[in-house]
Amino acid sequence: MKLNTLWLLAATAALATTAFTAQAKYNGEDRGRPVMPAQSNAQWVAECGSCHMAFPPGLLPAASWKKVMTGLDKHFGTDASLSAADTQMITDYLVKHASNRWSANTAPLKITDGEWFKTKHRAGEIDPAVWKRESVKSPANCMACHRAADQGDFDEDNVRIPK
Ligand code: HEC
Ligand code: HEC
Repeated sequence: MKLNTLWLLAATAALATTAFTAQAKYNGEDRGRPVMPAQSNAQWVAECGSCHMAFPPGLLPAASWKKVMTGLDKHFGTDASLSAADTQMITDYLVKHASNRWSANTAPLKITDGEWFKTKHRAGEIDPAVWKRESVKSPANCMACHRAADQGDFDEDNVRIPK
């Protein structure tokens, strides 16, 4: 019994350390700023919400948004380029409202490549086959499961995985 208790204490301590380290990283919950800023931007919604939902600025750090916005002519296999003025305006909006909690050395181009995304959507929680469903198509299709994702709502209680 005594040994067991000791082991448990050690395990708890180890867990606490892990939790602490994880907290120092961008974990999808503590972004330092809201996922979706109170004030929207019409240009951003129109231009970045036409092929997929306009991904809330708080889902990526500023460095990622800068990368995305400087590569719009080769945007995930499509050309999403804009006028210089629109590019500047949207970049400013995204950067201003980006996550300011990000300790990763590399700023991913994709939200779905982020560590926190993988943690929140790991195989233990979601059957890997789900991602291949016709109703889901891609992990980037947030709205398939988070119905109000375009309003910045990713609350676990509102998740519905489609058949
Ligand atoms: C012409 C269509 C089109 C437009 C316009 C467009 N995108 Fe995309 N975007 C795509 C495609 C296609 C993907 C890949 C989706 C996938 O992997 O399922 C993508 C993916 C992304 C991703 C990565 C999603 C992830 O985590 O996997 C980000 C971030 C993104 N777009 C941002 C933007 C921003 C910002 C704008 C506006 C400046 C924009 N997009 C406009 C087509 C577009
Ligand atoms: C196939 C369905 C599915 C898709 C697509 C999906 N998610 Fe999720 N997401 C979930 C589920 C299920 C959970 C809850 C996991 C759990 O129980 O811990 C979740 C949890 C989350 C959480 C944590 C919420 C909380 O309350 O802790 C965030 C943030 C999130 N998802 C963001 C995204 C983003 C951003 C996208 C798109 C780029 C996305 N998700 C795409 C199913 C999905």
